[in-house]
Amino acid sequence: MDRATYKILTPGDLDQEGNDKLIFELDVLNGLSEHPKHLSSKYFYDDEGSRLFQEIMALPEYYLTDCEFQIFESHKRDLSNLFSDDPFTLVELGAGDGLKTNILIEQFLGDKCDFHYSPLDISEGAMVTLIDSMRKKFPELQVNGVVAEYFDGLKWISNISNRRNVILFLGSNIGNFGQSQARVFLRSLWNSLNDGDYLMIGFDLKKDIEVMLRAYNDSRGVTARFNLNLLNRINRELGGDFDPDKFRFYANYNVFSGAIQSYLVSLEAQEVHIGDIGESFKFRPWEPIHTEYSYKFLVSEIESLASATGYRIIRQLYDRRRYFVDSIWQVEKLTR
Ligand code: TRP
Repeated sequence: MDRATYKILTPGDLDQEGNDKLIFELDVLNGLSEHPKHLSSKYFYDDEGSRLFQEIMALPEYYLTDCEFQIFESHKRDLSNLFSDDPFTLVELGAGDGLKTNILIEQFLGDKCDFHYSPLDISEGAMVTLIDSMRKKFPELQVNGVVAEYFDGLKWISNISNRRNVILFLGSNIGNFGQSQARVFLRSLWNSLNDGDYLMIGFDLKKDIEVMLRAYNDSRGVTARFNLNLLNRINRELGGDFDPDKFRFYANYNVFSGAIQSYLVSLEAQEVHIGDIGESFKFRPWEPIHTEYSYKFLVSEIESLASATGYRIIRQLYDRRRYFVDSIWQVEKLTR
């Protein structure tokens, strides 16, 4: 019997109208009609974008992945003890290739923990690869993957079993939300969870600005291709005629907001037509499209975020250089 399977969450499953392509079209129409222009980084992660992001994670400059590997290696026994009092479901939001999670899964299986693994990802390509590698590496593990966006995934979490949930939200995914968005997200996650459930959430800490800038401006230009893929995706899926060579990737660190900000900058005056929207968009020379925020945190900011959204911090796990923290939170519903 095959224990590793996945399903694509469709609007019908969630009882909601609409379709993904229409929402993509509306977001692109809105974003390119505004000043300054913007496009949401959630659209980075089609199959090609997910593949490019895996390349980013393997870059020496992208320290975040290394930090988290270190943290998992040095704390896996403690985590296994902490989570395994009761049977649990390990839910991973934005699982991607799941490589870091393998360290934990191996430990949990070795310790004979009673758990299932439920990865969620927006890219079906990434999910197929993940499910395939899980089958090979851990044939005895029960895996139920879901292809969906975070917020749709939350509705799905709230429908699952009464096992304890252990939610993994790794990398620096939380940093891609704006400050109020992050609160709304954590609070709706809280709504979907039960008292005592765990959330393990990765935060990239504020540090030497050069170190952060290098992580988002890699020397091999993978990050640039990752951002430019968004234009190619609009060409592929919405009939656009972007010439990616006429844009360049640029990232800086905003010392006021504490975020790495990424842009695609038009290198000349140009007009881009997007067939499926039936609109053309004019660019002035050097006009930017904002694509992403990557917020960096202070420990004190993490503490306020947790208490403002209904969680208690029970562990702060740092890497050797204290560049990054995996913060373990527990849902508090009842005042105990
Ligand atoms: N979640 C990742 C991060 O914020 C995504 C990412 C990595 C990214 N490198 C990037 C986004 C470069 C935009 C540009 O770290």
